[in-house]
Amino acid sequence: MPEFKTPRGMRDFLPKEAAAMKYVEGITRELAMLYGFQEIITPIMESYELLTAKSGEEIRQRMYAFEDLGGRKMGLRPEFTASVARLMATSLRNKPKPIRLFCFGSLYRYDEPQLGRYREFWQSNFETIGSSRPETDVEIIALTNDLFQKVGLRNYWFKIGHVGIIRGILGMEGVKEEDQNRIMQLLDKNLWDDALAVAKALNVSEKCLATLKKVFGIKGEDSDKIIKEVKAAVKNYEKAVSAAENLEEILQLLRGSGVKFDMSIEAGFARGLEYYTGIVFEVSVPELDVSLAGGGRYDRLIELFGGEPTPAVGIAHGIDRITLSMEKQGIQPKIETGRQVMIIFIGDKLKSEALKIASILRSAGIPVELEVMGRAVARALQDADRRGIKHAIILGPKEMEKQEVILRDMTKREQHATKIQNLLKEIEAKRKT
Ligand code: HAM
Repeated sequence: MPEFKTPRGMRDFLPKEAAAMKYVEGITRELAMLYGFQEIITPIMESYELLTAKSGEEIRQRMYAFEDLGGRKMGLRPEFTASVARLMATSLRNKPKPIRLFCFGSLYRYDEPQLGRYREFWQSNFETIGSSRPETDVEIIALTNDLFQKVGLRNYWFKIGHVGIIRGILGMEGVKEEDQNRIMQLLDKNLWDDALAVAKALNVSEKCLATLKKVFGIKGEDSDKIIKEVKAAVKNYEKAVSAAENLEEILQLLRGSGVKFDMSIEAGFARGLEYYTGIVFEVSVPELDVSLAGGGRYDRLIELFGGEPTPAVGIAHGIDRITLSMEKQGIQPKIETGRQVMIIFIGDKLKSEALKIASILRSAGIPVELEVMGRAVARALQDADRRGIKHAIILGPKEMEKQEVILRDMTKREQHATKIQNLLKEIEAKRKT
């Protein structure tokens, strides 16, 4: 037999790593509850057409796509937003708005593996559907900030932009949407000169080229100053001005709400996904070259999937990258091992008694492990110690005649005989101390 390996770009999560991921997942679930998001579970594969409709060239090229046995072209989901938009255009179409949906699960992209970039990764994804008001955008940003605060990450910053600024300029110059998408893809990779060259080749005006060049260079932390600069730069392009005003409104509201974090506002910032129509954001930490979360407003996707015109805004948090950043910053996730009690029995005759006691304790919610290796007591205790078990219960024939067992405190290395009927009470009392 060959040596079987984990597929390239994919990982096995051993208990400690799985627990760290579950810890972050737990916090995202807590936030979903606090902000009123309800969980939905969608299929891991969807039709290729749905997944590629507005995802952008990069995701299209990196999809795990295949034909199923029925000859349908399918894809493993590279993100959740397309599935959510499909639901909004179908089953959830007539539900009262707003609708706040939370998804958690694995996604697949044929990315080139590197630190923090995998072919299978996990996201917590939040979408608020039905409102175009700036408070919706602010809440998505605030929720994300809460997540980073709660996991304890330091020095993270938000990059914030608005795709309506560049699209507004290009649209008013008559640049078709597909061509705009090409330019946005280049901006997503910070290839400013290439983006300008494409615009030039599309015969936009000199004024347009000069405006784009100026806009690409506008970035900074002072939101009032940045918005002022953008407005001045795009004054001849009405649509770009209203995009800048929308961004201004959101940033003012954010400031007024008291949510504080480091941010860089970048007028030329675009994201790879094509469906964004408004504000866009990403979160980064100094330890990683890749972003930890990303999202934005997409007001036309649901309509494109055959639904009613429905505004929406959302974000996805990369759980793998958040966990990795915590590790890099030396942040220990709070992990409850659950290792409380080990039951060790001497001689096969006491096997059923051991199982019975295990069952009584578990019914009372106490985690119990049974010694199943047939080890002698000393070896079994050594093993319990190594694995951080707090209490051992030893069943011996002499004690059992008196309906007693030995209860051993593994930390204090003390033990005493106790009646079986008192065992549960004693362990519960010890758990509380
Ligand atoms: P995205 O920026 O493509 O946005 O992905 C969001 C996050 O998923 C990234 O910031 C990153 O943390 C994680 N991620 C993406 N690719 C990988 C990878 N290869 N390995 C590890 N982590 C990765 C979206 O997916 C949008 N659907 C977000 C959204 C929701 N926009 C509106 N609503």
